[in-house]
Amino acid sequence: MTPYVADPVYLNGQFLPLADAGVSPLDRGFLYGDGVYELIPVYSRRPFRLDEHLKRQQATLDGIRMANPLDLAGWKAVVEKLIAGAPWDDQSIYLQVTRGADNKRDHAFPPASVTPTAFAFAAPLTTTPAEVRAKGVAAITVSDQRWARCDLKVISLLANILARQQAVDEGCAEALLIRDGYMKEGAASNIFVVKDGVLLAPPKTQLMLPGITYDLVIELAERHGQPLNVREISEAELHSADEVWMTSSTKEVLAITTLDGKPVGSGANAGKPGPLGEQMYQWYQEFKNTVMRKG
Ligand code: PDD
Repeated sequence: MTPYVADPVYLNGQFLPLADAGVSPLDRGFLYGDGVYELIPVYSRRPFRLDEHLKRQQATLDGIRMANPLDLAGWKAVVEKLIAGAPWDDQSIYLQVTRGADNKRDHAFPPASVTPTAFAFAAPLTTTPAEVRAKGVAAITVSDQRWARCDLKVISLLANILARQQAVDEGCAEALLIRDGYMKEGAASNIFVVKDGVLLAPPKTQLMLPGITYDLVIELAERHGQPLNVREISEAELHSADEVWMTSSTKEVLAITTLDGKPVGSGANAGKPGPLGEQMYQWYQEFKNTVMRKG
């Protein structure tokens, strides 16, 4: 077992030790970044919203015209077996499908005889330490250099990688992506903003990944009567927000308390996690303990 991946892993129909799992260097995932992925959080050995994750995976496969090597039941069986084989109760399950090892180098699709590569593994779910959460994290804004289908969860992540690395180089946890004056999301998270007691969320368009956590945060806001407005958020609004949060399967709900070197919010709450973010975090934990962990 490596430090973070449990044995066995899944590769093309087999469960085997990671050390024995080999993929051709001619795989189009390796040569072109031609593939899709999913990351599914698991609480108390129960995958959270597995159907929704598999639906998003299918939508991404459809979006890049790749056949799904497994059906829904097939993926569910893989996920179940990985969860059962891993030593942790809380896990993250990673799924990846690529267009396989081609018989020539050509950008166009390989012939139908080339089989896709399906790979999956379980890793421990690493959550944010309480002391980091209590302070919130710093973020920067950067120009969104990604392609025009950010709704697809594809493995070609170079623009996201460069944005996140720029944040890390500047001592920050996340980069918020600005396109045409509007904030779309983070390099690997969705972003929510609070202004005057209203929760603002960018709409699901082709320029944002439809996060499973994003959906849950919106559901929780609606369930608890939290005023909510799903609409585009300008860069200026982002900078004058009372609160900014990032959400993802691994970050859950995490306050961004410094943006481009300036404290987020004003008055007594400036530079600190705000009350609505704290409330949403509590709702999220409550939901996790009463629903996610119970299946
Ligand atoms: N990233 N937007 C982007 C660009 C992401 O990469 C992610 C998740 C999200 C949040 O999606 P979800 O709530 O379904 O996790 C939004 C995962 C965690 C990753 O790349 O590892």
